Amino acid sequence: MSNPMTTLLTNIAELVTNDPEATDLLGLIENAAVVVEGSQVAWIGPAAEAPDADVRVDLGGRTVLPGFVDSHSHLVFAGHRAEEFTARMAGQKYAAGGIRTTVAATRAATDEQLSANVAHLMKEMRAQGTTTVEIKSGYGLTVHDEARSLAVARQFTEETTYLGAHVVPAGSDPGEYVDLVTGPMLEAAAPHARWIDAFCEEGAFDADQARTILTAGQAAGLRPRLHANQLTYGPGVRLAAELGLTAVDHCTHLSPADVDALRDSGTIATLLPGVEFSTRQPYPDARALLDAGVSVALASDCNPGSCFTSSVPFCIALAVREMGMTPAEAVYAATATGAAALDRHDIGRLIPGKRADLIVLDAPTHAHLAYRPGVPLVTQTWIAGRPSL
Ligand code: NIG
Ligand code: FE
Repeated sequence: MSNPMTTLLTNIAELVTNDPEATDLLGLIENAAVVVEGSQVAWIGPAAEAPDADVRVDLGGRTVLPGFVDSHSHLVFAGHRAEEFTARMAGQKYAAGGIRTTVAATRAATDEQLSANVAHLMKEMRAQGTTTVEIKSGYGLTVHDEARSLAVARQFTEETTYLGAHVVPAGSDPGEYVDLVTGPMLEAAAPHARWIDAFCEEGAFDADQARTILTAGQAAGLRPRLHANQLTYGPGVRLAAELGLTAVDHCTHLSPADVDALRDSGTIATLLPGVEFSTRQPYPDARALLDAGVSVALASDCNPGSCFTSSVPFCIALAVREMGMTPAEAVYAATATGAAALDRHDIGRLIPGKRADLIVLDAPTHAHLAYRPGVPLVTQTWIAGRPSL
């Protein structure tokens, strides 16, 4: 059998490797090259030392970095809530109940309409450098609509999350609904899902309900994660640390004890600054988390209610401008730590043996992602060794 084709990407002004052996966070290499063999990275190093390859691509002094791993999104939905956003910008407060508007639209949509919407958003994401995306259900909230939402999500990604516990649907009794989420709905959802999630928040699910839901999901073979401390201070982050979750998402309202608990449990805090932007909330304190030794991931939370952006570069710019992260910390959070937040060891770094998921940035350094906000700098997105943009 012949070896897979090799491609040399060369004349890279700055290569972000996220190499854990490097002395700097991003494992930067200047004047670099990458050799891709089949779907994987085969070699990285200075361009002057690069081996020969079947194909040579001159990147003209651009930056190459690992593809963004967007570990939190809600792409399976129909309709939009632009009016709610407009009202919010005029002073109205965001509340969890708005989710029910999208639930009604999603239930009324066909599978084809839902798939087309996901495909459209995924295309936007790829154009902005996202190479792996996690997609949640949570706008169906019936056995049938949660299962089909996850089946739609599965057409696009392995990283699917069952979020039947997004909000209690209109007209349902909360206790009976938790029984449904942990019973027949879980059974229908589990074959299509890798993860289970719950929205632990005032107006959604309390800590006891969240614990019950995540425990049931685990018993069904799913990995637990949690939306916590988004709109108000609450017990969700403590619960996440106690359960030793891989990641807990939002973390907007934290006490010093919560920060310590996250550090001690090793749970990743996934911050979603597009939400604070779109709901006019204070941003989470990324600096306090990082300084305490907590791992921080950044993700889009793309959804029609609290944050309708598909752009990880936008989130990086917000994290740097508003949350005290350095450009290097923000890039690392959206790549290596995003991968860790999905328990993925094959992506998030450009070192030999990892999947060749990479972005070519029309800029001389990664810092331009924050320095040039709103500018479409991503010129190529490669997934598993192939250009896919
Ligand atoms: O992550 N927090 C809960 N769910 C989404 C918002 C969903 C919506 O408003 O439609 C979030 O912010
Ligand atoms: Fe979310």
